[in-house]
Amino acid sequence: MEKHYIILMVCSIFVIPQCSNGIAQDPKSVKKWFKDLHHAKEKLTEFHFYLHDIVSGKNPTNIRVAMANATAQSSTYFGLIAVMDDVLTEGPEPDSKIVGRAPGIFGSSSLEEIGLHMTFNIVFTEGKYKNSTLAVSGYNPFQNQYRELPIVGGSGAFRLARGVATLHTVWYNDTSGDALVEYHVMVLHY
Ligand SMILES: *[C@@H]1O[C@H](CO)[C@@H](O)[C@H](O)[C@H]1NC(C)=O
Ligand SMILES: *[C@@H]1O[C@H](CO)[C@@H](O)[C@H](O)[C@H]1NC(C)=O
Ligand SMILES: *[C@@H]1O[C@H](CO)[C@@H](O)[C@H](O)[C@H]1NC(C)=O
Repeated sequence: MEKHYIILMVCSIFVIPQCSNGIAQDPKSVKKWFKDLHHAKEKLTEFHFYLHDIVSGKNPTNIRVAMANATAQSSTYFGLIAVMDDVLTEGPEPDSKIVGRAPGIFGSSSLEEIGLHMTFNIVFTEGKYKNSTLAVSGYNPFQNQYRELPIVGGSGAFRLARGVATLHTVWYNDTSGDALVEYHVMVLHY
């Protein structure tokens, strides 16, 4: 009981953002967090993980939901829309420890190259940032060696976050369509 009280005190004096864990809070608590923001210092956090994009087999994590008639004639799949809930792991192996998921949608939006407009969340399911999310929105020219996707916000420990995710395809199987993508994320948050 006493310990609990001390922790609460520390949180309210120094406004440590981790005290707001990933679990969504009531509007009053969120309002307080904003009002105390001027005490908070922005910090940089770095993440490294692998995204498993599975379109083949019985349990795909990325499924096509729609396309235009013209998409069938397009070499860049222009007009295709898909939904994903890809698994994020610590290492590149398929059985590596799961650290989060990437639910979202993307559309093939380029006439010139295979380029996806993506909007998804990085949802952490493990560790210090469990249940906190990062909102990603940007253009992913899939065939380039490196792509940068903007981090445009977040929730939980990542309220008002901003940053960049750098993507690199480790392998892409053009028969199955499956891919393994390495993510380096740099994020500024409070
Ligand atoms: C798409 O193709 C189907 C089948 O050929 C046709 O019935 C439909 O009118 C086409 N839609 C458009 C928007 O062209
Ligand atoms: C937190 O995340 C876990 C999965 O990692 C989930 O089971 C749980 O429902 C989440 N809690 C809340 C309150 O969102
Ligand atoms: C690519 O996918 C095909 C079809 O699922 C599979 O037979 C093949 O072994 C895969 N290639 C590699 C290098 O994993």
